[in-house]
Amino acid sequence: MKISVKKRLALGAALLSVTTGVASAVPEGIADLYNESFLVGTAIKSRDLMGELPSADSLSCREFNAFTAENAMKWQHIQPAPGQFDFALADQLVAYAQQCHARVIGHTLVWHQQTPDWVFEDAQGNPVSREILLDRLREHIHTLVGRYKGKVYGWDVVNEALNEEGSLRDTPWRRILGDDFYVHAFRFAKEADPNAQLYYNDFNMYKPEKVAGAIRLVKQLAASGIKVDAVGMQAHYSLFYPALADIEHSIKTLRDAGVRIAMTELDISVLPLPDDAFSGADITQRFTAHPVYDPYVNGLPNAEQQQLAERYQGLFALYLKYADSVDRVTFWGTTDEESWRNNWPIRGRTDYPLLFDRNGRPKPAYEAITQHIP
Ligand code: G3I
Repeated sequence: MKISVKKRLALGAALLSVTTGVASAVPEGIADLYNESFLVGTAIKSRDLMGELPSADSLSCREFNAFTAENAMKWQHIQPAPGQFDFALADQLVAYAQQCHARVIGHTLVWHQQTPDWVFEDAQGNPVSREILLDRLREHIHTLVGRYKGKVYGWDVVNEALNEEGSLRDTPWRRILGDDFYVHAFRFAKEADPNAQLYYNDFNMYKPEKVAGAIRLVKQLAASGIKVDAVGMQAHYSLFYPALADIEHSIKTLRDAGVRIAMTELDISVLPLPDDAFSGADITQRFTAHPVYDPYVNGLPNAEQQQLAERYQGLFALYLKYADSVDRVTFWGTTDEESWRNNWPIRGRTDYPLLFDRNGRPKPAYEAITQHIP
């Protein structure tokens, strides 16, 4: 018999010991509470994959059932120099996931960031031909995806290929291979592991133009005989944007186009925006540090803590509402201490974007989505 999410949440709440407004982690973990609806994942840092693996009692192991390598499977780490593959950390990720009975999400095969220059250049530093780059792409994807065939559940095949208005971004991939560069990437991934799920992943997917662009890619791939198993909405958010209504609109648009959805990199910054129009996750965007943009170095006040909890609650209510289309919700990290948001778009700030505090204790935001979904 299936237990509804609401019943499971009630059960989780009953099992919680609540002290002074801060919840303890639910005994069976947040992923178990949402088990009937979608996977709940986290990103694993490279430093956690070095040396001895965290135990089965670690926070990420207890709480989540899908692991994405935050950095370890990116091109620059997997193949830093031509033909020199380094699988040490990726192997560790797979071993850790197996120990925790978590799915592995491979991130990412084609991105314009974190790809070494040599990939696009010849020995003289000139752009390589289309044929050479296609060969390099094929070799990289076949080697990486092939190694983890049957062990990686799904791959972010192409990451962030779209401009904000939905057109294709100008990248070396596109310049050298042409507008159908992404079709080749998906084809190679499918050849290497026909049973792995294949995803297109991007940020700012609450924008209708970007969603339209993603649907265009999915349709183009379908016309080439390739099924995209889900579009990843990265979900790098803030207390101040986006509106839930905009996210809901995007979910509906994708669903109505027959596209399944994963929330792939969820976090919510609580810090002031460096600019009113600021959004997204473009790692090249940088702003100068100033104390006014870093107001919570000594702790997050209750009012903001509460706002964060309400924002997470609203998001999870939405995800549950569309659970028939949402396959997974992955947080981009587990504790506030490890979040990339502390260093982007301004370095060295103290942010509070995740479910667990700097000591690994669950925050009110955790309580909000394990007890109080309306
Ligand atoms: O580990 C080294 C450390 O040894 C060195 O001292 C230090 C000096 O800067 O750098 C450390 O590496 C950093 C790494 O994160 C680990 O913290 C890299 O400089 C930094 O570029 C890297 O940033 C990552 C970023 O992608 C670029 O790859 C972030 O951790 C990671 O969270 C972020 O993730 C991306 C997704 O892949 C795609 N979507 C957006 C998302 C956020 O930008």
